Amino acid sequence: MTCAFPPRTRLRRLRENRVLAESIREVSLEPRQLILPLFVVPGSGKRTPISGLYGVDHWSVDRLYEGADEAIAAGVKSFMLFGLPTEKDANGSTAWREDQPVQQALRFLKERYGREIQLITDVCMCEYTAHGHCGFLTADGRVENDSSAAALGRIALSHVRAGADTVAPSAMMDGQVASIRKALDDGGFQTTPIMSYSSKFASAFYGPFREAAGSAPSFGDRRGYQAPSTNWREAIREPLLDEEEGADILMVKPSLLYMDILARLREATMLPLACYLVSGEYMMLRHAMAAGALDEERGLLEAHFALRRAGADLIITYAAVDVARLLKR
Ligand code: PBG
Repeated sequence: MTCAFPPRTRLRRLRENRVLAESIREVSLEPRQLILPLFVVPGSGKRTPISGLYGVDHWSVDRLYEGADEAIAAGVKSFMLFGLPTEKDANGSTAWREDQPVQQALRFLKERYGREIQLITDVCMCEYTAHGHCGFLTADGRVENDSSAAALGRIALSHVRAGADTVAPSAMMDGQVASIRKALDDGGFQTTPIMSYSSKFASAFYGPFREAAGSAPSFGDRRGYQAPSTNWREAIREPLLDEEEGADILMVKPSLLYMDILARLREATMLPLACYLVSGEYMMLRHAMAAGALDEERGLLEAHFALRRAGADLIITYAAVDVARLLKR
């Protein structure tokens, strides 16, 4: 019966009337669900466009409010802070220093906006270590897990003391969520949430970010600690472990290439899910737009709606402000 021709069931009955079609749209996207990354640099008076990341700037702390104001006006109130330190050493010791861009930005933004915004910090060491790896190195050049996880606790605590509302560990050390939870609890911050970059893959799509953050490893790669892109079961085990360790929000990163992970994880946990539309994915869209191969408005909306459909509650995206503006039209 269903294969009768002419067909009895015509799905276009649900599609031709735009009001009807819109009334049964299954997925929604609102500016409140978008998180905008901000890159903070030392110095003052700076708003420097990042050449490899279209529409994204390096901000000095004193001008950060310009970026925040634009985002807030569009309805985006959550920010992910990344910092470029004044100096780097083998142990990444600027990562937990009070006088560094992230800690200063936190104080500056909290003073100005208070509870109107949410400040999330990326908790990692790769921007701070001279070798560009995400933790301390052993003598034979591997990343030492447990001491690095302990340092991440110290970094997270310095962020929260400076005003971070939420911390987001991205170093992929085993036990890092538990280490950070303990450091925050011991420091008196029992209610500060942890958004764990839990399914974070060793990906070729972080290139423009590493240029922008100066965080490319000086030797080797991150495949010893980040997840292999070929393994979906392993990529579900990670967030389930993070949940046990006390994570409050889980994340899949990259996102457009890993929607299967997002959809499977949605079935496997009750926690809120974030995803990160990473620099290389974002620039893939931007390059296609610049080449005339992709319509900007429709392309941006389709990519972000797709992530919501796959199961993301929150989307970290360099296009947060552009998408929020499109949604308001
Ligand atoms: C690590 C970190 C990275 C990104 C976010 N946090 C880079 C990496 O793992 O090498 C990448 C984000 C992007 O590509 O947009 N601190």
